[in-house]
Amino acid sequence: MNVDNRMIFCHDNLDILRGINSDCIDLIYADPPFNKKKTFTAPVGSSAEGAEFSDIFKEEDIKDEWLVSISEDQEKIHNFLEGIKGIEGRTSYTFCYLAYMAVRLMECHRILKDTGSLYLHCDPTMSHYLKILLDCIFGEKNFRNEIVWCYTFPGNFPKDFPRRHDIILRYSKTENYFFYKKTISTPYKANFTSTRGVQGSHKYEEEHQKIRHEKGKTPEDWWTHISNVSQWRSELLGYPTQKPLALLERIIQASSKKGNIVLDPFCGCATTCVAAERLKRQWIGIDVSVKAYELVKQRLAKDVEREGELFYEKLVKFSTDPPKRTDQEPDYLPQKYVYIISHPQYEGEYKVGIASDVKSRLGSYQTGDPGRNYKLEHSCLTPYFREIEAYIHKKYENKHEWVQGDLKDIQFDIEHYEHENE
Ligand SMILES: C[S@@+](CC[C@H](N)C(=O)[O-])C[C@H]1O[C@@H](n2cnc3c(N)ncnc32)[C@H](O)[C@@H]1O
Repeated sequence: MNVDNRMIFCHDNLDILRGINSDCIDLIYADPPFNKKKTFTAPVGSSAEGAEFSDIFKEEDIKDEWLVSISEDQEKIHNFLEGIKGIEGRTSYTFCYLAYMAVRLMECHRILKDTGSLYLHCDPTMSHYLKILLDCIFGEKNFRNEIVWCYTFPGNFPKDFPRRHDIILRYSKTENYFFYKKTISTPYKANFTSTRGVQGSHKYEEEHQKIRHEKGKTPEDWWTHISNVSQWRSELLGYPTQKPLALLERIIQASSKKGNIVLDPFCGCATTCVAAERLKRQWIGIDVSVKAYELVKQRLAKDVEREGELFYEKLVKFSTDPPKRTDQEPDYLPQKYVYIISHPQYEGEYKVGIASDVKSRLGSYQTGDPGRNYKLEHSCLTPYFREIEAYIHKKYENKHEWVQGDLKDIQFDIEHYEHENE
C-alpha cells in the first residue's frame, strides 16, 4: 500500500485515485454529488461554514482525456455513454455527470482488493443510470444489493409522495468478498427515545426492526431505523449532505474488519473517516474542500475525548499531492500525445488535449464539421501528458479545453515542460 493510514487528500479525487496502487483497499464508500443541478453551501455560523460544492455537471467540466481512456479501456462503458449521448446529447447534464463518475468508478474498481466492496450512495436522480455504469465496471454478477435508506423530514409535496429515501448500490470486486453478517445482526445501538408507536409509523418500524435485529436476523436491504443526520443534533455540523455516523458504522461493520483499509473519495466532513476510526479501521479520505481536514480533526478530538482517550492531532496527515504508485515497473511510464488543434472560426484559440492516437482524434473533430477545417498544429508523445495538459489549461485562459494565446508560446510550453520540471 502506498498511502498512509489517517490521510486526508485535498485535491480532485481522480488524480488521487490514479496514484493509489491496485488491489489494496478493502472497502470504498462513495457519496458523490447526486447531479441535483444546484450548489450546496454550509449555513453561516455552522461548524462547516465556508464549505460549498457544485452539483452541476456541464460540458466544459468533461475532459476529452476521460472519454479517451474510457473508449480505450472500457468498451462497455463507452457504448453505454454513447447511448446516453445519443438519447440526451453530449451537452446534457446526464451525459456529463456519467462521464465524470465513470472515470472515477473505474479507478475505485482497480484499487479494491479481490475481497473488497464498493458502496455507492446516490438517490433516484441518477441511481438507475449508475446501476448500469457499475454493472459495466464491476460485472452484473458482482452486484450485491440496492440498499434503500429511508428517512423522514418535514416538508409538503403538494402533488407527489415526499421523496424520502436514498439508494446505496453495493458491489463486490469478485465473488470472493467479505461480508461480516454477525457484526450487523447483533442488537443495533441506536438512541431510541420511545418504545411506543402507531402501527405503520416510522417510530413503530424503528422499534420493530430493532426487535428483529435483537433476534439475530441480518437486516434487510431497506433501512428505516437510521435517522437523517438533521435529526441527530449532536452530530450536525451544517456540512451540506452530511451523512449519519450510524449509517457509515453499519456499512463499515458489514464489509470490513479491524485493521482493514476504508477509503472515501468524496469524504465531505469526513463522516466515513470518523466512523472508521471509531471501529479501529485504517482510513483515507479525499475531498476537493480543505474543510474535510479541519473537520475530521475536530470531530475525532471530540469523539475520542468522549471515549476517554487522547487524540493526537498530528496523527491525521494531509496532502494536496497525488501519491506515486509503487506497484508498477520502475521504468513503466505510459505515454500519450498532447496535441494542439485549431479551427479558422476560433482565431487565437487552440484546443489542447490528450490522445493515444492523434489522427483519429482529429478525425472525430472533423466528423462534426462539414468543412473539415480542424487542423492538427502540433503533437508530442510524452509520459507527462496529464501534467502538461493541466499546466497549459492553468497557464492560459481557457473555455471547454480551448485555450487563448499565441500558438508558438503554447507549443514552446508543451515542448519545454519536461526540462523546466526536471
Ligand atoms: C455528498 S458530499 C459528501 C458528504 C459526506 N458523505 C459527509 O458525510 O460529509 C460530496 C462531497 O464530494 C466533494 N467532491 C465533489 N467533487 C469532488 C472531486 N472531484 N474530488 C474530490 N471531492 C469532490 C464535495 O466537496 C463534497 O464534499
